[in-house]
Amino acid sequence: MRERRDHCANMASVKTLLNLGLCLSAWSITTADENTVPTAENVHWMSLDFKTILTWTSKPSDHTYTVLYAMDHGDWTESLDCSQMSETTCDLTAHLVPLDRTYSADIQIESADIDDNSDPDDLPHTFSPQFNPYRESNISAVEFSVEATNGSKVIVNITDHVTALHDASGRPLNIRDILQKDLKYKISYYKSGSTGKRDIISDSSVAEVSQLDSGQSYCFMVAAYIPSRPKATQLGTWSKQQCAYVDGNVLQDLSLGAWVGAVFILLTVLIIIVTVTVLCCRCCRQRNRTFQTSQSSVPV
Ligand SMILES: *[C@@H]1O[C@H](CO)[C@@H](O)[C@H](O)[C@H]1NC(C)=O
Ligand SMILES: *[C@@H]1O[C@H](CO)[C@@H](O)[C@H](O)[C@H]1NC(C)=O
Ligand SMILES: *[C@@H]1O[C@H](CO)[C@@H](O)[C@H](O)[C@H]1NC(C)=O
Repeated sequence: MRERRDHCANMASVKTLLNLGLCLSAWSITTADENTVPTAENVHWMSLDFKTILTWTSKPSDHTYTVLYAMDHGDWTESLDCSQMSETTCDLTAHLVPLDRTYSADIQIESADIDDNSDPDDLPHTFSPQFNPYRESNISAVEFSVEATNGSKVIVNITDHVTALHDASGRPLNIRDILQKDLKYKISYYKSGSTGKRDIISDSSVAEVSQLDSGQSYCFMVAAYIPSRPKATQLGTWSKQQCAYVDGNVLQDLSLGAWVGAVFILLTVLIIIVTVTVLCCRCCRQRNRTFQTSQSSVPV
């Protein structure tokens, strides 16, 4: 459309006014066409946990859409699920593999007004922005549990959630299966009642947070973190926070040696108490006996 107008402008500058008149009338016909067949607008990708949907908006009318897609500027393939349909969304998840590639889509509009024999290149169509699912798909909030262990440590156990993708045998793939070593988790935590937050990055899905103060509650939040991605898409959605009381229970901290020591000391104390009691009783009994003897020795 714009090209055609530029072309007109060039011709006008070179050729006669008659030509300009022809051009203008051609232009007004094109504009009229455009009014009856609105193009797809606001074309964008929505992708969560590698489920990727192309959406667009359009003025209501009786035309249909056909979506084509291409990988790395290659050939266009028609999506069979999104062929001559009236919906304005198309789930392209299954077609966007391998994930770490650049994909483009093209939304073609067909209408009863348009001659069936017309060249497909003449159909009104709109290109999507480019999209790389591996680098741009949003990652939803993760589930995790926290468990206070002995003394000053908390174990954060994160579940790598499943995605919409499956492997060749049909097994659902989780985000760890897909992102592998690129997947880290960011764990943010704070001592309850304090405002200072600390972040740690964990390579694995089970993380140990240490050097916590015992006898205090700590609250934790977790988000998937993919440092290999562009800044804007590195961090997944933050989870809901989970809190744990870091037990001040010293007994749990003791090693086997300390336990043996403690039992030994307890036994010693017990033996001393028993011995003292026995000795005391014997002592008392003896004193009583002496008293009785002295009493009985007194003449009545
Ligand atoms: C990812 O989430 C952000 C924030 O909610 C949103 O603006 C963006 O469009 C999403 N990207 C995709 C590809 O869905
Ligand atoms: C983490 O949680 C899963 C189930 O939610 C459990 O099977 C696993 O043993 C836990 N791992 C650790 C180290 O606590
Ligand atoms: C604390 O617990 C971990 C396992 O949760 C264990 O490996 C470690 O030895 C314990 N530390 C002490 C000092 O008992």
